[in-house]
Amino acid sequence: MGIKVTIFIVLVAIVTGLYFAGFLTSQPRVPEYGDGWWGNGEKPKGEENTSIRKFKINVDDSVIDDLKQRLVKTRWFEPLEEAKFHYGFNSTFMKTIVEYWTNKYDWKKQEKYLNQYEHFKTNIEGIDVHFMHVKPKGAIPSEKIKPLLMVHGWPGSFVEFYKIMPFLTEPKSHLGTDDDTFEVICPSIPGYGFSEAPHKQGFDVVAAARVFDKLMSRLGHEKYYYQGGDWGAGIGHALSLIQPSHVLGYHTNFPNGQPSLYPVRLAIGSVFPSLVGLDAEDVNRIYPVFDKLKLLLRETGYAHLQATKPDTAGFGLNDSPVGLAAYILEKFIFCTNPHYLDLHGGGLENHFTMDDLLTNVMIYWVNGNIVSSMRLYKESVPKILSGQLDAMPEVPVGIVIFKYELAYLPKTWCKLLFPNLLTYSRMQRGGHFAAFEEPQLLAEDIRKFVSEIVRRE
Ligand SMILES: *[C@@H]1O[C@H](CO)[C@@H](O)[C@H](O)[C@H]1NC(C)=O
Ligand SMILES: *[C@@H]1O[C@H](CO)[C@@H](O)[C@H](O)[C@H]1NC(C)=O
Repeated sequence: MGIKVTIFIVLVAIVTGLYFAGFLTSQPRVPEYGDGWWGNGEKPKGEENTSIRKFKINVDDSVIDDLKQRLVKTRWFEPLEEAKFHYGFNSTFMKTIVEYWTNKYDWKKQEKYLNQYEHFKTNIEGIDVHFMHVKPKGAIPSEKIKPLLMVHGWPGSFVEFYKIMPFLTEPKSHLGTDDDTFEVICPSIPGYGFSEAPHKQGFDVVAAARVFDKLMSRLGHEKYYYQGGDWGAGIGHALSLIQPSHVLGYHTNFPNGQPSLYPVRLAIGSVFPSLVGLDAEDVNRIYPVFDKLKLLLRETGYAHLQATKPDTAGFGLNDSPVGLAAYILEKFIFCTNPHYLDLHGGGLENHFTMDDLLTNVMIYWVNGNIVSSMRLYKESVPKILSGQLDAMPEVPVGIVIFKYELAYLPKTWCKLLFPNLLTYSRMQRGGHFAAFEEPQLLAEDIRKFVSEIVRRE
C-alpha cells in the first residue's frame, strides 16, 4: 500500500508539473484536407473519370474450389490441454469451424444475401472504391430522407451493416416510425472488401476520410451524417476535422480522445470518483485500471504487429484460409466479450451465426486483401501516437458505448472532449461489433442522435 501511494503521488506531481509547464497543453493542429493519388504509376493528366458503375458480387468458382482444396490440406496441430483460447485460437474448435466451412457453408447463397442491396464502384484518387447503397423503399417524402455514411473497421467489412439496414431504411415497418428515414452508403475502406488497395505508401485515416467525402459529393450529398466504430471511428473523427461543414453529425460507438491530465483524472478517480465526475457505473467500467491495461496488452499484440510489419504476417494469412479465419475470429471473440476467451467454443455463436462470421472472413479471403487491410495500422497508428489526430471535432457528436467495448470514456470526460456532444448513451449489453451484434440498439441510438440534431435546427 505505502509504496503504491508514494508512486501515485509522485506520478500526479510529475504530470501536474508538466501540465503547468505547458508541455502537455499545446493546441493540437487540425490535419489538412489535402489530396492524393494511390493508383499505379504516375497520375495521368486530364480529368478524373467520375463514372459510377454497378457492381455485383460474383466470385469465380475457381476461387471457391481453390479455397476448398486449401481447407482440406490444412496442417493441423494439437492445442495444449485445457488451453481454451488462452494461447490463441483453439485448434480443436477450429476443426469444427472448418468442417462447417467445407461441408455446409454455401458461398453462392451468401452472394445472393450480399447482393440483396445494390453495390457500385467508382474511381477516386486512382483506385476503385466499392460501396453499398441502400435507399428507402416506398414513397417517402424526400425531406424525410437523410444521407448516412457508415464505415466499418478491422477485421470487419460492410457485411457488418446488413442487419441494421431495415431499422434505418425502413423504420416504418421495423420501428413503427418514419420520422427519419435514412439512405445509407456503406463503402469498403480502400484495401478492404471490394475496394482496390492503394498502390502507394501513406494511405491513412485522413486519406480514407477525404476519399469518402469525395464519394459522398459524387453521389450528390454535400452534407451527410456519419456513423462508425473501430477504424470507421478513426476515419469519422478525421473527416469531422478536415471537412466539418459536410458532416451534419458524427455518431460513434468508439470515441477517440483523452481528456487533458488523463492520468491525473484516472488516479484521482480511483480514490474520489465524484471529484472527477465519475458515477458508479463509470467506476465499474474503468477500474481497476491496471487490470484493464493488462487485458489490453495481452490482447492487442496484433495491433503492434500490424502497425510495424503487416506484410510479414500477411504471407501466412493470405495463403491459408484457416490461418486467416483464426486470426480474424479470435478478434471477434475477444471484442464481443473478453470473458469468452475462457469458454469452450469462444461463445461466438451466442451472438452471430457461423454463416455471418464466415462471410466476413470470406470477404477478406476472396479479395486477397488481408495484407492491405492491416497496412492501415502501419499508416495511421504512428500519426495517431504522435498526436497528429489529437484535435477534437466540433461538429455535433453522438456517442454510444456498449457494455464490452474495449475502451471506455465516461460522459463527463466526453463532454470535456467534444464541444458539441449532443447525445451519450451506455448500453448494458453488446460489444465492439455493435452494428453486427446489436443492430436495433445501435439504430435506435443513431436515430435518437439525428432527431436531436433536427430538433435543434
Ligand atoms: C469512364 O469509365 C467508364 C467505365 O469504365 C467508361 O465506360 C467511360 O467511357 C469512361 N469515360 C471517359 C470519359 O473516359
Ligand atoms: C480446446 O482445446 C482443448 C484441448 O486442450 C479441448 O479440450 C477443448 O474442448 C477445446 N476448447 C474449445 C473448443 O473451446
